[in-house]
Amino acid sequence: MKINRELSRNAPIGVFDSGVGGLTVFREIMRQIPNEKIIYFGDTARVPYGSKSQETVTRYSEQIVRFLKTFQVKTIVVACNTASAYALDTLEKDSDVPMIGVVKPGAKSAVQVTGNGRIGVIATEATINSQIYTEYIKELNSDVTIYGKACPLFVPLVEEGLLKDPVTDEIARRYLAELIDIDIDTLILGCTHYPLIRSTLGRIMGERVTLVNPAYETALELKKMLESLDLLNDEPPGLGSGQYRFYVSDKAEKFVRFANSIIKYGILSAQAVNIEDY
Ligand code: DGL
Repeated sequence: MKINRELSRNAPIGVFDSGVGGLTVFREIMRQIPNEKIIYFGDTARVPYGSKSQETVTRYSEQIVRFLKTFQVKTIVVACNTASAYALDTLEKDSDVPMIGVVKPGAKSAVQVTGNGRIGVIATEATINSQIYTEYIKELNSDVTIYGKACPLFVPLVEEGLLKDPVTDEIARRYLAELIDIDIDTLILGCTHYPLIRSTLGRIMGERVTLVNPAYETALELKKMLESLDLLNDEPPGLGSGQYRFYVSDKAEKFVRFANSIIKYGILSAQAVNIEDY
């Protein structure tokens, strides 16, 4: 990463995901650093990322980064585990703005939480196959045992808004069955879509398992990073400043309906852009 240009404290933060999942990270950033302006991009035309190749996810992520940079963002949050696993290294290499992903903060949280050193990770196929959580967790504590489980159907279920539906419940039971009897005490929700079905996952896993949502730690790390670079916005942006702006690659109205149902802030609109142009 070579940050050789002047970044402004007043500039927005760019946040992106394959769809609505990154809103779980957006929500935490809103809470923890409420003076910040945020530009959110959800790649609703090309979701899911979790079943695609590293080349494709990297190409999509590069396009989104180019789009976000048109807003002179001061930092970019890759609010997607799959893109963090597959593309963050490449994105950071030639970036002139600081970037942060969700995997490292999630791994850190889980290592702090576990008591018995047995951690489960549920995520997309891509994230599980990349072994990235295992890598980061082992760097922090090589004695921990990690059990990964890909749950590819969760993302389409969440994108369809089936957050509290018997179908989601049934699929979650099947996916989680093998994690229930192996005595894990911590389960990382390793896809930003999954905190949206947290109550279902928590009920199935039972009280002895702590669910870790990497969004909280990511927002905390983001705040620390902005502080250390003297880039925290010290003044509230004020009414009418368009503090939060949302862009998607398809179906803007559907996105707005969903976003309004999970975030208390009234999202007035989202704009569709042709991301292939970037
Ligand atoms: N929400 C993303 C993640 O955290 C991507 C899910 C997907 O598009 O498959 O992995």
